[in-house]
Amino acid sequence: MKGDFPVEKFQDIETPFYYYDTKLLRQTLHAIHEELERHPGYCVHYAVKANANPKILRIIRQSGLGADCVSGGEIQAALAAGFQADRIVYAGVGKSDWEINLGLDRDISCFNVESAVELEVINQLAARRNKTARVALRINPDVGAHTHENITTGLAENKFGIAMKDMEPIIARIRTMEHVKFVGLHFHIGSQIRDMEDFKALCFRVNELQDRLESQHIVIENINVGGGLGINYDSPDEEPIPDFKSYFATYARHLRLRPGQKLHFELGRAVVGQMGSLIARTLYVKQGASKQFVILDAGMTDLIRPALYHARHKIENLSSNAPGEVYDVVGPICESSDVFAKSITLDGTKRGDLIALRSAGAYGEIMASQYNCRRLPIAHLSEEL
Ligand code: LLP
Repeated sequence: MKGDFPVEKFQDIETPFYYYDTKLLRQTLHAIHEELERHPGYCVHYAVKANANPKILRIIRQSGLGADCVSGGEIQAALAAGFQADRIVYAGVGKSDWEINLGLDRDISCFNVESAVELEVINQLAARRNKTARVALRINPDVGAHTHENITTGLAENKFGIAMKDMEPIIARIRTMEHVKFVGLHFHIGSQIRDMEDFKALCFRVNELQDRLESQHIVIENINVGGGLGINYDSPDEEPIPDFKSYFATYARHLRLRPGQKLHFELGRAVVGQMGSLIARTLYVKQGASKQFVILDAGMTDLIRPALYHARHKIENLSSNAPGEVYDVVGPICESSDVFAKSITLDGTKRGDLIALRSAGAYGEIMASQYNCRRLPIAHLSEEL
């Protein structure tokens, strides 16, 4: 089955472009809010890194989610889209001074601090402004995730977070600081996680750490378990909306919250992944020595995930119903890794055919580059066509 696209309307649009199905985005947001009603005390922050298109950010903000940012630029994008500063959390191993100052000046909800040295800098910068920064400690839980190694973050070997053994000494240090307030713990184990057992393992780790802190009479206001819920790249039409029910139920079942404690999530891919497709045009169909290539006008500069993570995006020919043939689907960039898929079957393809690369709403447009002096892809919303 092919996705439901307004192919007629695509004919006059310059390719390549991102197509965002905002009806699906709204349905996805609705599904999240339905679950949140079931779990009072749960708060979802949208991970801006997945897609910072201003129109998409605005729709997400209107639905009522907060924002999770990892740079000053993302904080600015979130504020411009109307997210309230007190619904913005800010993580990142390398926060520069201007970024910290921006967070302080705008009174963001929380800095997710990733090292003792960063904490000292935040305290100094906050002192200069006579402010108090709200900070959560990002703890590296040493919990693995069954996903690509480039998007695993919660292992001891990764650069992210504070080692568990350093947690208490750093909390003790915060208590001596005048311009920093300890408001919680933060975790994130990785991305594109489809197996709920991985999140369950994180729950067990959080319980263990909470018990440890509780025995020392340390109270934690907020727990933030990050994001990571994956999407179905193989069959986007069978699972257009991720299984938020099982995801939140996993935490409800296994993470022991204390009375009044809030549980925060930072979902990116699961919110925007399935609503987006990269639409490209076939430039040439070329018979190689041993292979047949479909050469698109979109390349790794528009969608880098296949080149960077060997990610598979479902590919469909929107212009053809001809009998299937086997092709390598590639882009025009001067790099051997500029390949979207090898040896896949597509409906018989010819020059001019429109091709959709599905499930590209997350980490697509935002990771585009201008390598080879190419133009950045633009995006069109379904509701504006
Ligand atoms: N919170 C933190 C601290 C993160 O590092 C990330 C993603 C998220 C939340 C959101 O994760 P999500 O819900 O989207 O899985 N470019 C890669 C993904 C990198 C993810 C980085 N961190 C890709 O295209 O697969």
